[in-house]
Amino acid sequence: MGLLGFCDLALLGLLLNAVVTFCNGGTTSAFVRPVEKTVDMPLHIDVFQAPPGYNAPQQVHITQGDHVGKGVIVSWVTMDEPGSSTVLYWSENSKLKNKAMGTTVTYKYYNYTSGYIHHCTIKNLKFNTKYYYEVGVGQSTRTFWFTTPPAVGPDVPYTFGLIGDLGQTYDSNKTLTHYELNPSKGKTVLFVGDLSYADHYPNHDNERWDTWGRFVERNTAYQPWIWTAGNHELDFAPEIGETEPFKPYTHRYYVPYKASGSTAPFWYSIKRASAYIIVLSSYSAYGKYTPQNQWLEAELPKVNRKETPWLIVLMHSPWYNSYNYHYMEGETMRVMYEPWFVQYKVDVVFAGHVHAYERSERVSNVAYNIVNGVCAPVRDLSAPVYITIGDGGNIEGLATDMTEPQPKYSAFREASFGHAIFDIKNRTHAYYSWHRNQDGYAVEADSLWFFNRYWHPVDDSTSVQ
Ligand SMILES: *[C@@H]1O[C@H](CO)[C@@H](O)[C@H](O)[C@H]1NC(C)=O
Ligand SMILES: *[C@@H]1O[C@H](CO)[C@@H](O)[C@H](O)[C@H]1NC(C)=O
Ligand SMILES: *[C@@H]1O[C@H](CO)[C@@H](O)[C@H](O)[C@H]1NC(C)=O
Ligand SMILES: [Fe+2]
Repeated sequence: MGLLGFCDLALLGLLLNAVVTFCNGGTTSAFVRPVEKTVDMPLHIDVFQAPPGYNAPQQVHITQGDHVGKGVIVSWVTMDEPGSSTVLYWSENSKLKNKAMGTTVTYKYYNYTSGYIHHCTIKNLKFNTKYYYEVGVGQSTRTFWFTTPPAVGPDVPYTFGLIGDLGQTYDSNKTLTHYELNPSKGKTVLFVGDLSYADHYPNHDNERWDTWGRFVERNTAYQPWIWTAGNHELDFAPEIGETEPFKPYTHRYYVPYKASGSTAPFWYSIKRASAYIIVLSSYSAYGKYTPQNQWLEAELPKVNRKETPWLIVLMHSPWYNSYNYHYMEGETMRVMYEPWFVQYKVDVVFAGHVHAYERSERVSNVAYNIVNGVCAPVRDLSAPVYITIGDGGNIEGLATDMTEPQPKYSAFREASFGHAIFDIKNRTHAYYSWHRNQDGYAVEADSLWFFNRYWHPVDDSTSVQ
């Protein structure tokens, strides 16, 4: 027994060692942020103030309005009366004002009645052109501007910002300010869900949807934000008679879902410059035979990497998450869709939900079936990098508790608020950086060169920190 026992123990020791070695992952950042409570900005604060003037348009925001970037949806709210839902627009080099007609919607939520929410789609714009636009026609007008993206093509450089789970705290304001002042100059925000956190208030006080719209206007009126629905967009509250999921969100934030053949605003795609962006919904059915599943199955083969080399997926609930928050909530969607992401060589998946930052190695976990017991993530150069960027700074605070040891699939993780930049250089290279709010605007707390999975499917370089 003695000798055998010793051998067994030695073997066990070796095995344990191997397991431990395998389990130890990448970097858990040593950066320690001061622990502060995240508190919502009070109603009277500067960023919540309505613009002056009778019935003046407020909460102005834009998003892409077609499949290729020649369209823009302009949305805003008027509080006193419906007013006009017309948008006047003209290109930088032209005085000729064009007119686009929009529509107006309202909704009630418990005892809240919304203002007049206007949505106007401008179509057939020229690529790569600065346009001015005017809303509030006939009353208190306000003028903003945006720049359309370059025509879709494989080598078009383009810079995306990444923000998630923003909310409306003092920290949210810092995140937005850091994004705005980042010298990388993001041109479009890929927003991974959880906007206002109005549902934090009694009866989901929808006035907090209005304050959020006013808070982010300084950015959303000038560059498109590509919306993803998060759990805080559900506003499902049967206890107060509110049983229509996503009611405030779908009335306020329009997306061009029909342009990609989608049948609901929660999953859709757009092309923008050299990127093909697929937005998925963690909170809509995604199993076999469901509308989202059918759409995605038909959508992925349509992506032409010779035209749009960069295939980016946005969703709210992360699949690879090593924090002790929302642990494995993304697992069932991962089981359904991960084989497709590997097959179609998705470059990167951005998610939110967990209020911290994490970046994965290129891993997949698709070998398992119900009998073979093969159930650990493995390194896979056809797999996307998974990035959790739910660190916008909302009222629920930071997710600081991590699973230990850091799993091997996790390359870098840190519990700080911040935002990221995905800077596409050409068809083979994109530079990615993550920026924590405590640093100067140009500081990169994590970064990585992305090599395109279709055109340059070799290993990514190690991250530079
Ligand atoms: C809605 O109801 C809540 C409590 O039931 C109350 O505090 C609030 O003032 C009401 N708001 C409106 C607009 O009536
Ligand atoms: C929010 O940030 C903006 C821009 O940096 C600043 O002007 C404003 O005073 C800030 N407001 C609060 C309440 O922090
Ligand atoms: C693509 O961009 C990378 C990084 O800027 C550069 O090193 C590379 O030479 C570029 N490739 C081409 C074909 O221009
Ligand atoms: Fe969330």
